[in-house]
Amino acid sequence: MRVLGIESSCDETGVAVYDTAAGLRAHHVYSQIDLHQAYGGVVPELASRDHVRKLLPLLRETLAEAGLTVRDLDGVAYTSGPGLVGALLVGAATARALAWSLDVPAIGVHHMEGHLLAPLLEPGAPQPPFVALLVSGGHTQLIAVRGIGDYELMGDTLDDAAGEAFDKTAKMMGLPYPGGPELAALAATGVPGRFTFSRPMCDRPGLDFSFSGLKTQVLLAWEKSDRNAQTRADIARGFEEAVTETLAIKCRRALAEAGLRSLIVAGGVGANRRLRALLAEAGAKEGFTVAFPRPEFCTDNGAMIAFAGALRLAAGQHQDAAIAVRPRWPLEELLKV
Ligand code: KG4
Ligand code: ZN
Repeated sequence: MRVLGIESSCDETGVAVYDTAAGLRAHHVYSQIDLHQAYGGVVPELASRDHVRKLLPLLRETLAEAGLTVRDLDGVAYTSGPGLVGALLVGAATARALAWSLDVPAIGVHHMEGHLLAPLLEPGAPQPPFVALLVSGGHTQLIAVRGIGDYELMGDTLDDAAGEAFDKTAKMMGLPYPGGPELAALAATGVPGRFTFSRPMCDRPGLDFSFSGLKTQVLLAWEKSDRNAQTRADIARGFEEAVTETLAIKCRRALAEAGLRSLIVAGGVGANRRLRALLAEAGAKEGFTVAFPRPEFCTDNGAMIAFAGALRLAAGQHQDAAIAVRPRWPLEELLKV
């Protein structure tokens, strides 16, 4: 079954074709970073308009690369939530219209399920059950995955998501949008241990996170410092250590609590090298496996949507032709496959 995947929930337009027999056939992502940079964050209306401009050319390019035409498609999957409503509607309307005209089934995919299943696109990927750490700009969740669509939320953030904490801290330190990767690059040149920030909520039981206090700690350290370039890098390093170590501590706890030895990491912050190294080290020491998607599938992309949609369409799931999106949508409400 050849499934077209469309992602348009935020500031990336992603298109891909996944073939349940032959794997990923082609994928393309267009990032709107340059468009939003001047505003220091995503402007929803500009995002929607840019998806309108980019989606069809990207779709043609992706099909051409796969050596296919729309007539070769057996189904269409699109992100139907959570995300920015206008941006979601662009993908949903395009996908629904295409599926209707081709008379093939279409399915709205949960964006976070896309992220969660992205590691399974890699060869030799683990199969459920496993614990998933979902770390993006909007989410920081630990989920016990017993099967596709069988998701139990074990821990969540009480305030800022991990990516949001990276982005806000980076902005405060004068780094350009999107701050996460910029701050991580700066941290790589920082001296570890010169600045130490707290590991929030690790001194008590439980799997929830709280990252909003860290940015205040970073601001105070920056204001009290000599404010030179090396100090900035050292503070960035201290911040990255605090976030990644907190995530690693809670991952180990979640594995113990779920009685599992397999961890997958997904979402934009999953591209963070320090997080990858820390978790790989902990896994080797404590006897659990860790799987990550390749970095380009950590951040938003169409491949994860095509893949998640293909699993559901192949299981016979699809919805009627209404163009419906869900800007808010708890992952636990999904149907099992
Ligand atoms: O999954 P994603 O592309 O979009 C959402 O669904 O939110 O995640 C984007 C988030 C942003 O907050 C970005 O700053 C963060 O992931 N991010 C990183 C890195 N690469 C992306 N954070 C830390 N280190 C990175 N290398
Ligand atoms: Zn995302």
